Amino acid sequence: MELVLASNNPHKVTEVRRILNGIAVRTPAELGVSFAFEETGSTYDQNALGKARHLHSLIGMPTLADDSGLAVAALGGAPGVRSARFAPPGEELDDAGRCAYLLSLLHGAAHRSAAFICCIAIVLDAQRLLLVQERVAGRIAQQPRGARGFGYDPVFLVGGGGRTMAELSDAEKDRVSHRGRALRRAGALLRRPAPPAS
Ligand code: IMP
Repeated sequence: MELVLASNNPHKVTEVRRILNGIAVRTPAELGVSFAFEETGSTYDQNALGKARHLHSLIGMPTLADDSGLAVAALGGAPGVRSARFAPPGEELDDAGRCAYLLSLLHGAAHRSAAFICCIAIVLDAQRLLLVQERVAGRIAQQPRGARGFGYDPVFLVGGGGRTMAELSDAEKDRVSHRGRALRRAGALLRRPAPPAS
């Protein structure tokens, strides 16, 4: 089984390959395909399915897309599907800037519950697709900590524990993360024998 990943994010490529071991994961760049998709959906599943379908229409091979983000309860679920673009109006930020912006919005807030969400869409062919969504609950830290991972990992305290996602080893992150959970479920579905054609 070979899947082409509808993403240009090197961190996601690395995580998907690590977690889906045994399933070959290629990238559009490796196949010489230029892939871009404007994420206009209001839900993770709309964006994930949109990306996977668009890449499938370009290459005609099985595709996999991840759409993910951070939902912060005290911000009404923001940044949500806009996690990658979260910034004050008119500004663009990098990962560290987005973490700092998030911390500034939560300054003094006691209620810091949050969750990472990941939706995986797999388009096998025009008639067959898989959609899996998972989450991991946690809290937003007072300060960034840790140098591993990407995105909001340095400000996300996993579960009820005292470590941020950026302080976990790769194996520890994969075991608990939204992406690890969703990809393991998707991988199990992919490895199941296909139902008989009728
Ligand atoms: P998208 O799925 O490409 O729209 O981007 C998701 C955004 O959510 C990323 O750019 C990160 O800011 C954030 N995000 C998703 N998954 C993770 C994760 O595992 N760790 C930290 N941040 C994440």
